[in-house]
Amino acid sequence: MSNNENLDLMQKVISLCKRRGFIYPSSEIYGGYSAIYDYGPYGVELAQAIKREWWRVMVQYREDILGLDSSIFMHPKIWEASGHVKGFSDPLVECKDCHTRSRADHLLEEIGVFADEKMSEGEINEIFKKNMGKVMCPNCKKSDFSAAKKFNLLVQANLGNFTGDWKKEPSYLRGETCQGIYVNYRNILDSTRVKIPFGIAQIGKAFRNEITARQFIFRTREFEQMEMQYFTHPDKEMDEYEKLRENRWQYYLDLGLQEKNLRWKKHEHLVFYAKEAYDIEYRYPFGFSELEGVHARGNYDLTQHSKYSGKDLTYIDHETGERYIPHIIESSVGVSRIMLAVLCDVYTEEKVDNEVRVMLKLPPNLAPIKIAFSPLLRNRSELVKQAKDLFDRFKYKYMCEYDDNGNIGKRYRRQDEIGTPYCVTVDFDTLEKNSTVTVRDRDTMKQERVKIDDLDNYFNKKFI
Ligand code: GAP
Repeated sequence: MSNNENLDLMQKVISLCKRRGFIYPSSEIYGGYSAIYDYGPYGVELAQAIKREWWRVMVQYREDILGLDSSIFMHPKIWEASGHVKGFSDPLVECKDCHTRSRADHLLEEIGVFADEKMSEGEINEIFKKNMGKVMCPNCKKSDFSAAKKFNLLVQANLGNFTGDWKKEPSYLRGETCQGIYVNYRNILDSTRVKIPFGIAQIGKAFRNEITARQFIFRTREFEQMEMQYFTHPDKEMDEYEKLRENRWQYYLDLGLQEKNLRWKKHEHLVFYAKEAYDIEYRYPFGFSELEGVHARGNYDLTQHSKYSGKDLTYIDHETGERYIPHIIESSVGVSRIMLAVLCDVYTEEKVDNEVRVMLKLPPNLAPIKIAFSPLLRNRSELVKQAKDLFDRFKYKYMCEYDDNGNIGKRYRRQDEIGTPYCVTVDFDTLEKNSTVTVRDRDTMKQERVKIDDLDNYFNKKFI
């Protein structure tokens, strides 16, 4: 695909999401709210399906991984211990011409110059100065910027502070979900029967004051993370890390993403405590970008929390008597990053009878609506009744829709666009003895007649 085709794809996906009730800009009637999005009726179903699949492989199928739902607000000291209060910042530059704000490290990356958000303001500015003239404002394409300033990404709040100046002692909306995992490590050890190695998984909201917000739901200020932290013996960390990497790659293939759109990216510049770090990147319409991080973090997290809380977080192996601070490997991904990857991967246009048929070729387990039930004609009460009866029968098992809007062709087109794999139509033959319905397959558009008595079995085989 050419660059233009790629950007075209992004615009088409964004437009379909709005038009068909997947994703809306937040607070739209007030002019929107930058980098925040709301999920409509089909978006929320897709997000839930993505989370369900993640939870299934991460928790349900594993004896050694347990779930958690920790709170969004936590003791502010946690964010000092984790290093976020001091070090969780991105270098911001502002275009002097059009005042667009950008991340200095991203602008440099675009011209092939490495800069890291972990570098000091001075270091970034030095590199930036050397490249002034080459770096370009993404909006007006000029090259005249303010000096880079480090901007902390933690979102502050006044929780529980009723009198004093809360800005001096702020609370924080969590910047990542895994801190809730680290501080519950001891609780989980003490209240369950797990032994090292084991993992803790959680899905929840995270908040970041992201500087740039130009890529739809790729980078938002409020987002959901799915994180799993796996606690290991120090000597086993890298073996477990390799296994986790293999699992995570396979996960995306099983989810249906095309392998040609995935790749590994190794972090060349590691934070001082990390053993190794890779990202799984997806080929979004704007280029390969981070989908998920898979990192070997050493014992940094528990050591820091032990130091700041004063609590001993040593693990005691009761069989060998060995004591150690467990090492941690993590898998961390945003729900919306997967959703955008899936939507771009399955968006399809096909020429049918000189018209363009748009569809989301979603795998059945991710489709927001699994089956749509329709009467052939909406003004024939006997057909309507039968279609509604079928909807009422199947709604307990699958997310279904009763659809009698417009004519049958229009209904199929709408269901194709929201990715519904099967449409069931009730027609006059249905009303006959031994009645049958037509089941239309989204991908092939083939219709087959299935006896109503066999429908349950038919769909059991389709939705395994
Ligand atoms: N606990 C490690 C951690 O949070 P990260 O690389 O900052 O590491 C992990 O984030 C993942 O969370 C990313 O790979 C991405 O999938 C998702 N993510 C991070 N920032 C995001 C944002 N602003 N919007 C959507 N997803 C985001």
